[in-house]
Amino acid sequence: MAAFDFNEITPNEPAPAPMQLAVAVVEAVPAVRMDLEERLGPGVTGFERVEDIVPRLNGTPVVVVLGPSCSEPEVLASVDRNLARSDVGVILVADELSTTVLQLALRSGVKDVLTLQGDTLQIVEAIERVGAGLAAPVPAATNHPVATGGDGDGLGRVTTVFSTKGGSGKSVIATNLAVVLAERADGPVCLVDADLQFGDVAVMMKLAPSHTIVDAVTNIERLDTSLLESLLSTHEASGLRVLPAPLEPAFADQIGAAEMVKIVEVLRRFCSHVVIDTPAYFNDVVLGLVEASDDVLLVAGMDIPNIKNVKIGLQTLRLLNTPMEKLRLILNRANSKVKLDIGGVERTLQVTADALIPSDVVVPQSVNKGVPFVHSHPKSGVAKSIRALADRLSEADAEVRRRRG
Ligand SMILES: Nc1ncnc2c1ncn2[C@@H]1O[C@H](COP(=O)(O)OP(=O)(O)OP(=O)(O)O)[C@@H](O)[C@H]1O
Ligand SMILES: [Mg+2]
Repeated sequence: MAAFDFNEITPNEPAPAPMQLAVAVVEAVPAVRMDLEERLGPGVTGFERVEDIVPRLNGTPVVVVLGPSCSEPEVLASVDRNLARSDVGVILVADELSTTVLQLALRSGVKDVLTLQGDTLQIVEAIERVGAGLAAPVPAATNHPVATGGDGDGLGRVTTVFSTKGGSGKSVIATNLAVVLAERADGPVCLVDADLQFGDVAVMMKLAPSHTIVDAVTNIERLDTSLLESLLSTHEASGLRVLPAPLEPAFADQIGAAEMVKIVEVLRRFCSHVVIDTPAYFNDVVLGLVEASDDVLLVAGMDIPNIKNVKIGLQTLRLLNTPMEKLRLILNRANSKVKLDIGGVERTLQVTADALIPSDVVVPQSVNKGVPFVHSHPKSGVAKSIRALADRLSEADAEVRRRRG
């Protein structure tokens, strides 16, 4: 980790180069403080109290690692009072992760919460992540790479994957498409699991998320790019950022359309592309997301009940005045063996298919392994069809940007 001696900073010194980063540990219990200092390596300075750091701040980016004794409400209140500055990023290493501690910490401006028992590497990674946000040159209103997707105004493109039929393949398509986009895009790509009750994106990608949409919603009033970014999980193999669905179906009730749309609006400020997986029914959350999206991929399985439901879904979207240019029909399991004629389906739905995804046994295999098929079987027909779909979305995106100049 790039750290330098915090003792070197004095208030009269000019601020060093932006990439230099100081790391401080605050912990009242000396043995725990020393243990944390030792784990984080040389160049880390320990302090007993939050207030002791304040006179040492001089504009150089500092990541402050709070030890377990700082989980107390009065200490976190002091963090909020003293360390809410653009040159300071705060991480809490707690004894254990409870919802109360997490909420209190995030409300006090803490960017990430980890456990003391956890891997030191996780703490180091959190320091680097928070430090990178502080040290990066600040373009316009954000600390993050400027996104290049969306409607040409610097905001990322938003693609919602929807179907009015359960099990039609929304989640596998959303997951694999997002992985392909993440590997191609200049800026970050985020997959949001908006199937709030039964979302399975994290399982499909074998992620063990520390945070979910619930944490973003709990902090909705103060949600900014860096707080939201700290709540995202990372799919290491592709770099895709993921905002998983709540771990308990009961939490779905607490999440409304306005909150979900706000989350997406904040995400698109620093992501090139935001892909959203949804449940198989219309509700206000889905309608809000459809409205906020640049593309809506309507997934239809190749059987009569699927086509019937998608036809009803299309009629509903038309009634709601959804611009038809946003809609892209994705025919899943579209091979000759299913005995349904693609042209006939297109005529029934009065929409031309934008993508034909074949049926392939590698899909359930990859779901069960927790590895997206674009990685486990990159040469398969299904992987090729997802890459072709990503090409179409990128072309549409480039076209919009060209037109807007
Ligand atoms: N092209 C395909 N070939 C083979 N199997 C597929 C294909 N697409 C999806 N499946 C299988 O169908 C099942 C349902 O897929 P998926 O979970 O993506 O659907 P969904 O629309 O998200 O479902 P839900 O409405 O329950 O969220 C999965 O087990 C997946 O493996
Ligand atoms: Mg699903």
